[in-house]
Amino acid sequence: MNIKKLEVVSFRNIKNAIIEPCESVNIIYGKNAQGKTNMLEGIWLFTGCRSFRGSKDSELINFNSSKAVLNLDFSAYGREQNLHLEIEGSRKFHLNSIKQPSASKIMGEFLAVVFSPVHLSLVKDGPFERRRFLDIAISQLKPKYAVTLSQYNKALSQRNILLKDLAYHSELYDTLDIWEERLAFYAGEIIRQRVGYINSLSNHVKEIYQGISSGKEEIEISYYQQCPAVGKDRQELYENIKALLYASRKGDIITGFTSVGPHRDDLSIKIDGLSARSYGSQGQQRSAALSLKLGEAAMIKNFTGQQPVALLDDVMSELDEERQNYILNHIKNWQVFITCCDPNSVANLKYGKAFEMKEGKII
Ligand SMILES: Nc1ncnc2c1ncn2[C@@H]1O[C@H](COP(=O)(O)OP(=O)(O)OP(=O)(O)O)[C@@H](O)[C@H]1O
Ligand SMILES: [Mg+2]
Repeated sequence: MNIKKLEVVSFRNIKNAIIEPCESVNIIYGKNAQGKTNMLEGIWLFTGCRSFRGSKDSELINFNSSKAVLNLDFSAYGREQNLHLEIEGSRKFHLNSIKQPSASKIMGEFLAVVFSPVHLSLVKDGPFERRRFLDIAISQLKPKYAVTLSQYNKALSQRNILLKDLAYHSELYDTLDIWEERLAFYAGEIIRQRVGYINSLSNHVKEIYQGISSGKEEIEISYYQQCPAVGKDRQELYENIKALLYASRKGDIITGFTSVGPHRDDLSIKIDGLSARSYGSQGQQRSAALSLKLGEAAMIKNFTGQQPVALLDDVMSELDEERQNYILNHIKNWQVFITCCDPNSVANLKYGKAFEMKEGKII
């Protein structure tokens, strides 16, 4: 997957900018607040997802305009393609000049992964962010997983409501069985999918992290279950989760909350045997989060045959020269966009293109 040309009009602080990137590393550099991240955000929107900054559509339009227009020429699946986006009230897409009924219809046409400073929360914050990462990554490859997840969440909230009701309506006790059977079924599917995904992701993440750290450090990722539920097959796993739920009833009725299941699980990230969250340095945490994101891209490549474009926002800060050099010069056969403030990074770029951004313009 390669961007051939991008045109951005009245988007954020960018009045009009055109870039024709190369097929390898593209650096967008410039001082603070010039529009570098805005440019990556513009590219990202062509995945059909919402802004990675969590912004509303209306915030994307330039303050002095009523409409933002973005046009992307790219090659994918062996063909030259075009995506056209107009943001006016909502986002309206055309794929190869054909109007699309909704943003979700273009998902999968243009593939990208993004790493921005907000993604450091993947390593630094609590398990919620890591479960979210896993759930979104798996859903993208297997939409059925998203359905299972939503069914699990529904069953979970039903059991939680029931746990609270039991304080006043003890006659409802037997209905716990129904919700626990459902929960155990969906939980088993979620755990199996997550474990499978992590097992494959792990090899990619290891390889990338080894590259970033010049082979000096080793990363290990694995699925962490607070109450380990295992099983040699679907049925055994189901039975084991059901038994765990049954055993937790007493405590759960007191707290009014389901204490076991995949909604409590985590993705464990260890660097040289130590928790990256608790002991990792800033550079190590950044390297780990980046490795997870690039590993996610490798998984997409395996699944679709297409290498997603990598959008790396402000990835260089806190990294030493050796690590920066790896990112600039060792990510091969892959179109990458990197934003940074330091023009010296450009001097270290062996192959690739550099664009300077100033006041919303490429100069
Ligand atoms: N809708 C908008 N209309 C006009 N300007 C906007 C809009 N949204 C954001 N901006 C401005 O765009 C500017 C550039 O933002 P951006 O985040 O791209 O900077 P940056 O070059 O990545 O800077 P940094 O190096 O600090 O990360 C900000 O100063 C912001 O005020
Ligand atoms: Mg920025």
